[in-house]
Amino acid sequence: MTETALPRPELPSGSDPGGRRNGVSLARLAALIERARVSYATRRPRSAALAREAAVHWHDGVPLHWMSDWGLPFPMFLARAEGSTLTDADGIAHVDFCLGDTGSMFGHAPAAIVRAVAEQTARGITGMLPSVQVPEVGRLLAARFGLPLWQITMTASDANRAVVRWARAITGRPDILIFDGCYHGAVDDTHVRLRDGRPILRPGLMGQVWDLPEHTRVVPFNDLAALKAELADGRVALVLTEPVMTNIGMVQPEPGFHDGLRRATRAAGALLAIDETHTISSGPGGYTRAHGLDPDFFVLGKPIAGGVPAAVYGFTDAVAEGMKRARAATPGYSGMGTTLTANALAVAAMRACLTEVMTDAAYDHMIALAEVLAAELERVVARRRMPWVVTRVGARVEFMLSPTRPRDGGEAGRIGDAEIEGALRLHLIERGVIITPFHNMMLIAPTTTRADVDRLVSALDEALAELTG
Ligand SMILES: Cc1ncc(COP(=O)(O)O)c(C=O)c1O
Repeated sequence: MTETALPRPELPSGSDPGGRRNGVSLARLAALIERARVSYATRRPRSAALAREAAVHWHDGVPLHWMSDWGLPFPMFLARAEGSTLTDADGIAHVDFCLGDTGSMFGHAPAAIVRAVAEQTARGITGMLPSVQVPEVGRLLAARFGLPLWQITMTASDANRAVVRWARAITGRPDILIFDGCYHGAVDDTHVRLRDGRPILRPGLMGQVWDLPEHTRVVPFNDLAALKAELADGRVALVLTEPVMTNIGMVQPEPGFHDGLRRATRAAGALLAIDETHTISSGPGGYTRAHGLDPDFFVLGKPIAGGVPAAVYGFTDAVAEGMKRARAATPGYSGMGTTLTANALAVAAMRACLTEVMTDAAYDHMIALAEVLAAELERVVARRRMPWVVTRVGARVEFMLSPTRPRDGGEAGRIGDAEIEGALRLHLIERGVIITPFHNMMLIAPTTTRADVDRLVSALDEALAELTG
C-alpha cells in the first residue's frame, strides 16, 4: 500500500459558487455518498461484527493503520482472494483492480505461487542459509533486468534503505537527492518535500527528531536545471527516483528527462537508483528495459514474489566493486539486512513468479486490456464532460481530477478531491468493483477479463451520470 495519498488535499481544486466542483454537483455528491454508505453497511453485517471485535485489541481496529484509510463506514474484511476476484467476509465478490496496491498485480494466489509456497513450506521456511534455488533466481533476475548482481530484502522500503546506505558508503558523500512528491516506502531519508522552493519535513511525519533536509536534497521532477544545480557541489551520493512518478498520481517523464538525468548524475559522480516497485507495470523488464534506462541500482519489491514478502535490488559491477572496497574499509555490522530476509520461502516464490507468472504472455494480456480500459475511461470522461484526464503506464491506469497532466509532484499534489474520489470508490464497491484508495489507480492482472473492465467502466459511467445530472 502506498502511504503517499493518505494526506488528503487541503483545498479541492475547481470549486465554483454554483455548487459544483471538478465537474460534480455537490448536492448529488452528498446524496450518492449517503446512499452508498447505507448500502455498504446494510449488506455487510459480518464485516461490521468483525470490525467491532477487532477494535478491542487492534489499534484503529486494524493490524496496519493504512487498512482503515479506504473511506468505508468500517473495514471490509477479506475472506478470500483468487485471480481478480476478492470475496469479503459477507460472501460478496468484487472484481479487484487494486490488487493489494500492486503486491498482487499478477492476480491473487497465482497457481504457480501457491504450489511453490506449499512445496517450500514443507521443505523448510527459513534457515539463514542460501536455499538451493538461489543460483537460478540470481540468473533469472540478471537475465530479465540486465543488472549482473543482486541482493534480496524483505520489502521495497528495505531495499531502498540499503541502496541509500550503500551509495553513501561507496561514494563517501553524505547527501541523497529525490524528486518532490516521491514515495519510496518507509525510508526516513526520503520523507522530504519542497515548499516554496525549500526542503521541509514531509507534513504528517510523526516521531521525527532529526532534520532530514540536512542530508536530503529535493527538486521538482522533470527539472534538469534544478537537478544539476543541486548536484554541482559534489556532495550527493545518490539520486533515487521512480522512472515515472506514481505515488502522487502519475507524472510522466518529459522527453529527454531520463537521458539528462543519467548524464547529470554521471557528470557529478552521483549514483542513480531506479525504483521500479510500481512501474514494473510497464513490461516484463520494467520501465528500465522498456525504455533502455541504464541505472546503477534497480529496486523492485511488492509483486516480485507474487505477494510473498520479498524485494530485490540489483547493481552494476562497478557498484559491486565499490561495495567490496567499502566493506573492506569498514568491517563489522553493515546496518543492512534483517533475519528473515532471503528466506527459502521468499526465494521459492520469487522463482515461481519469475518463471511462471511474470511472463511475456501475461504482460501482453495486461497491457492490451489496460489500453482498452484507458480508452473506455476516456470515452466516459468525454461523454460526461468531466474536466479529467486518464493516464496509463503499461498495465496501470488512473484518472485524475484535472483537465491537464501534471509536470511534477508539486502540481500533481494540488490535484485531487478526496470527497469525490471517495464517493466514486464507494459507489464502485457497491457495484462489485474495487479500485485503489490512492490516485484512482486500477491495475489489470493476467486474470482480468474484458467483462471485468466493462463492469468497471459502466459502474463509473453510472456514478458520473448521477453526479453530473
Ligand atoms: C515506488 C515505491 N517504492 C517503494 C515502496 C515501498 O514498498 P513497501 O511498502 O512494500 O516497502 C512503494 C510502496 O508503495 C513504492 O510505491
